[in-house]
Amino acid sequence: MEWSQDFESGLADIDVQHRYIFALIQRVNQLDDKVERTELREVAEELGRLALCHFGCEEQLMVAYDYPEGSRHIAEHRKLETVVNTFRHDDNYHAHNLALFLCNWLVSHTMMEDRQLAMHIVKFRARAMGMTVSDFVEGVKLHRSSATYAVAGAVGRKRIGTSR
Ligand SMILES: [Fe+2]
Ligand SMILES: [Fe+2]
Repeated sequence: MEWSQDFESGLADIDVQHRYIFALIQRVNQLDDKVERTELREVAEELGRLALCHFGCEEQLMVAYDYPEGSRHIAEHRKLETVVNTFRHDDNYHAHNLALFLCNWLVSHTMMEDRQLAMHIVKFRARAMGMTVSDFVEGVKLHRSSATYAVAGAVGRKRIGTSR
């Protein structure tokens, strides 16, 4: 599966993190769990760290922007953390099972919960900038070529484009 603009929430800071998570999922999918268990464990550990940072970031945004749908969204984060922790502590897991679960989870979560959160925040940010929501979102798209996006895009392309 390839990264698509459909997965983007419209909130640049969150989308950069999603791209890196997606790149890691591609990496898991490329590993053979019979011969590359050490690498697989390293990626699982990184996913655990990333979940901590990324979910922490989104949950701080929920508090800062007084987001009303937070409890449902946070429950999904905790579910993902539980699954990643299970994989991290179980030597018999299979890379492709983890990749499949993560991929399904990320796509459905980013397209529903994260997008809804992003739209809530974008309304505040657009208002603060004296812009309409659509002008603000367009402005974010135009700045995709910024250094941050370039780095995230390069990570995604390298991982996604590599076949083993
Ligand atoms: Fe989320
Ligand atoms: Fe997210």
